[in-house]
Amino acid sequence: MQLSDTMATEFNRQLTMELEASHAYLAMAGWLDRAGFPGVASWMQMQSEEERLHGLKIYQFILDRDTELAIGPLGAPSTTFNSVIDVFESALAQEKAVTASLSAMYTLATAEGDIASLPVLQWFVNEQIEEESTMMQVIDDLKFADGNPQALLLLDRELGARGAPLPA
Ligand SMILES: [Fe+2]
Ligand SMILES: [Fe+2]
Repeated sequence: MQLSDTMATEFNRQLTMELEASHAYLAMAGWLDRAGFPGVASWMQMQSEEERLHGLKIYQFILDRDTELAIGPLGAPSTTFNSVIDVFESALAQEKAVTASLSAMYTLATAEGDIASLPVLQWFVNEQIEEESTMMQVIDDLKFADGNPQALLLLDRELGARGAPLPA
């Protein structure tokens, strides 16, 4: 049940985008660790792992659809940030770009009548609602704790408790 050329290009592009997100979040984790937030850094590293699992879910879907893999090159991630909030605002912007990309793919698959792609795209769109919401929550918490070392320390410990993601 091969993907059309258009959908093959789109799924390969999305696979690359998920790996790029993983790459970007790992760079953010490194910055956070060096900025003195080991818990937030660990949280971001888990987020990086989760994006890699998203990439693998698309990788498997492309292969299951008897279609050739064409993983693109990864762009260099940003490595300098102004603050922890700046990191999360960049992460939220990254998530919004992914949401827009997946929504466009859903529209395209619908137009092509590629109904077999719709459930996996719907899964990803649902996942985006959750991820955008989580990023916004962390931004709110960081703003609330801003300028209060004790609150920031507690938040760092809390975020540091995030466990490894399950396979997508
Ligand atoms: Fe993702
Ligand atoms: Fe994401």
